[in-house]
Amino acid sequence: MLFAASSNRWLRIAGFLLYFRSGVQTRVLTQHCVEETCEVQSRFRSGDEMPKTRATKRGPKEPKDRVRVLITARRIRERILALAKQIRKDFPGEKLHLVSVLKGGVFFLTDLARHIPGEVSFDFIAVASYGQNTHSSGQVRLTRDLDSSIEGRTVIVVEDILDTGMTLQYLLRLFQQRKPKHLRVAVLLDKPERRIAAVHADYVGFTIPNEFVVGYGLDYSERYRNLPYVGVLQLGSGAKVENE
Ligand code: PRP
Repeated sequence: MLFAASSNRWLRIAGFLLYFRSGVQTRVLTQHCVEETCEVQSRFRSGDEMPKTRATKRGPKEPKDRVRVLITARRIRERILALAKQIRKDFPGEKLHLVSVLKGGVFFLTDLARHIPGEVSFDFIAVASYGQNTHSSGQVRLTRDLDSSIEGRTVIVVEDILDTGMTLQYLLRLFQQRKPKHLRVAVLLDKPERRIAAVHADYVGFTIPNEFVVGYGLDYSERYRNLPYVGVLQLGSGAKVENE
């Protein structure tokens, strides 16, 4: 009896160790924040490629990217709460249809939607830009349309950032043709210095300077979207980050 119990325990321990040795590679994003500057780096937890990595001679360390916090997660939360209240106050008792632009606007949409009391539905649209100098070329095209009609509905376009305004200009033209009852725009960040198109947002979270920002949905080559705050990206290489 005693032998069976202790051999079971050893089997469990052996299984646990095996699990870690053959585990799937897990990429973990670690952040070390000192005052208002965070170093963001990727490291790998136990997995198949670990032994190879250990065996290879390490070259000189690559300088890490840095993200300087511009707007803390707390300030974002508080501001979104206020915007949600304001939106409901402006449309009391109305069903609100929030439309977000993939992918960056999704974080803002979900947080905003959770704080607007009453009936709220949402939908998503995706656009792409032609050419290298993307938005400023003005060539925006639709890559994913909405799932449902917006005719007669109170629509709020929810964007993470209003930059040159070319995306918003395209969307507003498109949506106006579909005859919504009301069409409004909510943006978390407004960067007026970069504006090319004559568009404006009805609800603005924060007006920011002309710096390359990441976090809370905003990316640099698909990275940093998951940061809970908005920060200014400084590349480890010292190169200037090209604007959104
Ligand atoms: C960003 C942002 C807006 C657009 C604003 O999207 O989400 O949709 O740029 O820029 P504009 O005012 O200059 O047109 P991006 O193309 O980076 O795609 P993403 O949301 O998938 O990151």
